[in-house]
Amino acid sequence: MKLLHIDSSPLAANSASRELTRRAAAQWQAAHPNVEVEYLDLVADAPSHLAHDSLGFRLGIAAEGLTDAQQGENALSEKLVSQFLAADVVVLGAPMYNFSVPSQLKAWIDRIAQAGRTFRYTEKGPQGLAGGKTVVIVSTRGGAYGDASVMDHQESYLKAVLGFFGVTDIRIVRAEGLAMGDAGKAQGMEAAQRAIQALTPEAANEGQAALRA
Ligand SMILES: Cc1cc2nc3c(=O)[nH]c(=O)nc-3n(C[C@H](O)[C@H](O)[C@H](O)COP(=O)(O)O)c2cc1C
Repeated sequence: MKLLHIDSSPLAANSASRELTRRAAAQWQAAHPNVEVEYLDLVADAPSHLAHDSLGFRLGIAAEGLTDAQQGENALSEKLVSQFLAADVVVLGAPMYNFSVPSQLKAWIDRIAQAGRTFRYTEKGPQGLAGGKTVVIVSTRGGAYGDASVMDHQESYLKAVLGFFGVTDIRIVRAEGLAMGDAGKAQGMEAAQRAIQALTPEAANEGQAALRA
């Protein structure tokens, strides 16, 4: 089993989502000791925004028809999409930024949204090609929006695009209200911790032990 642990918060030690993805990944590992973990830091290794040279894969041009720059961009897109496809579980750190996600995370999605790899169109409409995996969205928010707010273009966007890729097992670990005073923050982090424990209830205790070690 492969677990892909992704962070996208630009904050380092002060990041709530980084703390929570670490806990979620540790707990998953405690429940599945043979899991192979790969880590992707979308801030340290931010994929560049799509541009002319990075759209070669969409044009279906054979490698020999591409410039060196285009081949380099394609190699990065290929690395990211194959890493995503190979994962059985993805723990995805996703802070809310301006009601959406950090642009580094959007840039990653732009790299892995590839026709023929994560989705395809058929005569009946779109079909996801990346099913069979679990994605744990670790959502952090300064405010509080609950499950269904018109302001939410973060969780709702991620659920939509992952669903488009064929992912049906999407779990939310949410810490919200983090900017709403000490009590609000503590409440938000406790709710997220409960959601982490519910991911693999049988291993919650071992996961805590692993964190303390
Ligand atoms: C640039 C920026 C934009 C933000 N936009 C929002 C927002 O639209 N709504 C919200 O509830 N919180 C917003 N926040 C607060 C973050 O969601 C909150 O600080 C959260 O903890 C970020 O996750 P992190 O601690 O892992 O970085 C924003 C924070 C930053 C730095």
